[in-house]
Amino acid sequence: MSRSKENFRKKSKSPFLINKKSFFGVMEIILSEIKNMFFASFDKKMTKENKVLNYVLSEATKDNPDSVLKVIDSCGYNNFFLMNIGDKKGKILDEYVLKSDAKCLLELGVYLGYSTIRIARNLSEDAHLFSIDVNEEFLNIAKQHLDFSGLTEKVSFYNGKASEVIPQLDQKFDFVFIDHWKEAYLQDLKILIEHDRLNDGAIIFADNIVLFHLEEYLDFVRTSPNFSSEFIPALREYSSSHPDGIEVSHFKK
Ligand SMILES: C[S@@+](CC[C@H](N)C(=O)[O-])C[C@H]1O[C@@H](n2cnc3c(N)ncnc32)[C@H](O)[C@@H]1O
Repeated sequence: MSRSKENFRKKSKSPFLINKKSFFGVMEIILSEIKNMFFASFDKKMTKENKVLNYVLSEATKDNPDSVLKVIDSCGYNNFFLMNIGDKKGKILDEYVLKSDAKCLLELGVYLGYSTIRIARNLSEDAHLFSIDVNEEFLNIAKQHLDFSGLTEKVSFYNGKASEVIPQLDQKFDFVFIDHWKEAYLQDLKILIEHDRLNDGAIIFADNIVLFHLEEYLDFVRTSPNFSSEFIPALREYSSSHPDGIEVSHFKK
């Protein structure tokens, strides 16, 4: 499907077919998280997130964001499930960030800072990324990844629930990457609109649309007169078979 602006459809075809593959895609994540919590209960440093940080610090090259992404991707493919956007969907994110030439960007859901690095390394001199995550431990690891990548100055981090942080921000955004708690996508998009935080033409890039069956979110962006929306089919991060997808919506005032 062409992703050019002219081809954006008001109402995309529904990506929802709850099938065995997408069900197993979610089950695999749940099992991986249970395993992670079990080991983490013995030793905090044993969490897979801390292991990723150790891999990055020992195997990646300082001030080389691509090498950091490569090490994190390698952990995602070979060691444990990581809920990063991943390399394949990440390339689509890169494409939209570059094409948008956005100056003020917002990221909801940081985790280990993988997508933060992807976005920050493609920003122009005068652009800045504001990134929110509710989990302080994840955010601390993300900050170290960003520092190691040499990108700290491009990003401002906020610890808290997106719904509570957004109303405190003064900025108006040209690009929003939504990738936090799936139940909060719609609520937090509405908070952005209600608080007048979106510039005309802002791009809303929402991940995991198929994996988590985000129908209410899709109904909203596909029927609201303020959005034109496009669905991009993809595979779940680090998987060669589990279906997922991205919804890219353009905001019109
Ligand atoms: C899928 S991960 C983000 C992955 C990251 N965007 C990437 O691609 O590298 C989701 C993150 O959202 C955070 N989160 C969940 N609910 C949140 C909320 N209401 N506000 C802010 N962050 C939230 C979680 O702590 C988790 O780190």
